Amino acid sequence: MQNTNEMLVVDQINVAFPGGQVLADVSFSLARGAFCGLIGANGSGKTTLLRSILGMQPLSSGRILVDGSTRRGGFGLVGYVPQKIQFDPDMPLRARDLVELGLTGHRLGLPLPSKARTKLVDEMLAAVDAQNFAGQRIGNLSGGQQQRILIAHALIRRPKLLLLDEPLANLDIRATAEIVALLRRVANEFGVTVLVSAHDMNPLLGVMDQIIYLANGRAASGRTDAVVRTEVLSALYGYHIDVIRVHGRVLVIAAGAADEIPAAMECQPAHVTVIP
Ligand SMILES: Nc1ncnc2c1ncn2[C@@H]1O[C@H](COP(=O)(O)OP(=O)(O)OP(=O)(O)O)[C@@H](O)[C@H]1O
Ligand SMILES: [Mg+2]
Repeated sequence: MQNTNEMLVVDQINVAFPGGQVLADVSFSLARGAFCGLIGANGSGKTTLLRSILGMQPLSSGRILVDGSTRRGGFGLVGYVPQKIQFDPDMPLRARDLVELGLTGHRLGLPLPSKARTKLVDEMLAAVDAQNFAGQRIGNLSGGQQQRILIAHALIRRPKLLLLDEPLANLDIRATAEIVALLRRVANEFGVTVLVSAHDMNPLLGVMDQIIYLANGRAASGRTDAVVRTEVLSALYGYHIDVIRVHGRVLVIAAGAADEIPAAMECQPAHVTVIP
C-alpha cells in the first residue's frame, strides 16, 4: 500500500545510455509540499532523472510513482520547466501567449471559453509578478523575466509536482535570489511539490526542505545538513571530499593535490565554489 503522504517515489531506478550507466539504483521520495533541490555537477544525470520522472526516459529497471501512480507524465499532474530554452527575439510570441499555451497547448477536448482563459492567464501572470512585461515578445525579455513566464506556463494547469531543470543557470545574483524567493512563495501558495535542479546548492540553502545529491550515478537524499557532510559525500564520490561551511555558504571540495584527484573529478568542478 502506498504512503499517501508521498508525492514522488523513485524506487531503485537504473538508466543506461550506450555510453554507460547514468543512474544506478537511485531511490528517494518527496513528501507532499516538499521543496527539494536536485544537486549535481554537469553530466551527473539531473536532466536524465527529471525526464525519467516525466516518463520521457525509459528505465532499465526500477519504478517511479507520482501521486501513487506509475502513470507519470501527462494528465497535468506534473509541470516541467526544461533546461536552456532559447527564444528568438523575432519570434512573434508574447509572454502572455506562452503562459496561455501552458493551458491550451496539450489540451484535449473542448477549449475553455476565452474569458475564462484570460482570467486564468492573468492570475498566473500576477502570481509570478509578470504583468508589467506580459505584452512583450518572449525573446526580448531578460533571463529572469523569461524564467517567471516559464514558471507560469508550467503552473497554469495546477500540477501537483513541479520539476524545474536549472532555472537559475545564467542568472545574476539578484535575479537568482528573486527566482528562488518566487519559487518558494508559489510552492506554498499553490501547494505544489517542487523539485529544482542546480549545479550549485548555495542559492537554495535557505529554502530547501530536502536535497538529492547526485554523483557517480548514485544519489544521497535527506535534509541538507544530513547529506552535505564529508562522510556522506566521500562515500558517494568514492574519494575524500571536504565540506566546508563559510560565510553561510557550502563549499564541496576534493582534498589532496590535483594529480591525486581521480579522473572522475574532472567532470565534477561545478560544486567547487571558487571564492573570488
Ligand atoms: N539521450 C542520450 N543519449 C546518450 N547519452 C546521454 C543522453 N542523455 C544524456 N546522456 C548522458 O548521460 C549523462 C548525464 O546527462 P544529463 O544531461 O542527465 O546530466 P545533467 O546533470 O543534466 O548535466 P548538465 O548539468 O550539463 O545539464 C551524460 O554523460 C550525458 O552525456
Ligand atoms: Mg541537465
